[in-house]
Order: sequence, then structure tokens, then C-alpha cells
Amino acid sequence: MSEPVSSLTVVRDVGSLRRRVKAWRAANRSIALVPTMGALHAGHLALVERAKVLADEVVVSIFVNPAQFGPDEDLAAYPRREAEDWALLAAADVDLLYMPDAAVMYPDQFQTEVHVTQVSQGLCGAHRPGHFDGVATIVAKLLLQALPDFAVFGEKDFQQLVVIQRLVADLDIPVDIVGLPTVREANGLALSSRNVYLSDSERTIAPVLYREISAVATDIASGSDIVARCAEAAEALLKAGFDAVEYIEARDAATLTPLVTHGVSARVLAAVTLGKARLIDNVAVP
Ligand code: PAJ
Repeated sequence: MSEPVSSLTVVRDVGSLRRRVKAWRAANRSIALVPTMGALHAGHLALVERAKVLADEVVVSIFVNPAQFGPDEDLAAYPRREAEDWALLAAADVDLLYMPDAAVMYPDQFQTEVHVTQVSQGLCGAHRPGHFDGVATIVAKLLLQALPDFAVFGEKDFQQLVVIQRLVADLDIPVDIVGLPTVREANGLALSSRNVYLSDSERTIAPVLYREISAVATDIASGSDIVARCAEAAEALLKAGFDAVEYIEARDAATLTPLVTHGVSARVLAAVTLGKARLIDNVAVP
């Protein structure tokens, strides 16, 4: 594919990234990193906009990380839209795009894995074995390669955000992790690169996920039984047309432990399947 013409600099190896970062450091410039797997949408671009406010220089990484996909998952089908992504990042005035390939990230003899224990268990961790090991390993690498002052992530992947916060605290990686609210379509559906898998008829069902978890959050806030209300919502989701409900649960927002009492900062999180798509979403309990 020919590379689009723009002022956006693209680097594909660690040495080039480090040289660029070192020059910024020497000039006293602060740096924010936005890690992504590409197929960029307005949710990713909201992270980029925040990164631009936080720091002088913004690095976006695009790497579809094989290690975080299970053997039966959509690694091969995951949308790849290099040219469109470049155009979006150039228009957003991003300084540097880091696009390593798998041989750069996982060279021969690679054998290290970062495993965050408790907060990786349950929820998506229970349904995607090894997923958060893949995420923690690649995010640790990206942070150590780019050494940013800030790294910006979406609350859309709430458990991922908690895992990354834990990882950075436990390994003393000197970076501020910044979490941003989920960007949604007008109908409430959380933007996701995987929404391209939805057919037209599935697109009318998909927004029900946000409506349901929002209703659960409101009801829990006003004292509904937590487990019973989540079970009722799982039924409602199936009835609305989702193929399966992997989980719908209320969790402590800081520790991700199951919510047993009302009154702590809490989050309702859910994962469902709909045709070829696996959709996740979450909301705060008001
Ligand atoms: P990806 O799914 O491309 O998402 C990149 C970042 O965008 C994540 O921080 C994610 O939470 C955020 N994001 C996705 N949809 C969003 C939305 N609708 N609103 C706001 N933010 C949104 O998450 C990953 O990639 C990978 O696991 C990664 C962290 C890059 C490691 O490989």
C-alpha cells in the first residue's frame, strides 16, 4: 500500500521511536501516548484530543496485538484500515504514529508475559483466557518503549483500564494513566472497531445493551437487589435479540470485586454476543 502524504511522521521500530522521544525530552517537551489497535473511530479520536490537551507531543500507536486474541477469536478478521487511520491522525494533528509489526513487538525468543492477578479475573477475564496477559504485556512494552508522561485509555474497556492502572502502580512505571468516558452513537451504542461486524438488523438491537445496563445502574442506585436485578437484565437482553449474555454484573469500580452492598463507587458491566460481534459496555452506578 502506498503511504498517504501528510506531515504525520510514521515510525515502525523501537529505535526510531526512542530517537524521536529522546529529541522531545531534550527540548523539554511532554509526551502523551494513545495505544490503539487501529480501525479508528470517534472514541479513539476523543482520546487523541485529550492527549493533545495533556501534553506537548502526542504519539498514537496502532498494533493489532495477537497475544490478546484467543485461538477462536477474530484476530484474522479484525478490521485493518491503515490508510483511513493515517488520514484521521494527520487531520487530528498527531505528531507521531508508531506502527510496529509483530516481529518488532514479539521478536524470536520472546518469552516474557506480564500477568496482573486479581483484577484480570472474572468479567472478560473469565471469558477470554489469557486476554489480559496479552493486554498487560503489550501495554507494558508500549509504555517502556515510548516512556510517555501520560497514557490515555477509554472507560469503554473498563476492566482493561483497571488492569493497566494496577500494572503501572505495581511495576512503578512513571506514567499518569488517564481514563476517558465512552463515546457513543446518538442511540447509546458504544463506538467500537468491532461494530463493523453488525448487520443492519443487529444494529437495531445493539443499542439495547446500553439502555439495559443504564436501567440496572439506576435501579441499583435506588436500592434494587443487585444480583436479582442483573439476572433480570440478562433475561431482557436475550429477549431483545442478543445471542448470548456472557455476563452482566455490578462491581466495585476500584477493585472490580463483586458489589455486595450499596453505597460504594460501583459500575455495571456487561458482555454479549450478537451475530459475529462480541459487544462490551459499562456504566457508573449514579
Ligand atoms: P482498541 O480497542 O483499539 O482501543 C484503543 C483505546 O480506545 C482503548 O483505550 C479503548 O478503551 C478506547 N476506546 C475504544 N472505544 C471507545 C469509545 N467508544 N469511547 C472511548 N474510548 C474508546 O483497547 C485496545 O485497543 C487494546 O487492548 C490496547 C489497549 C491498544 C492494547 O492492545
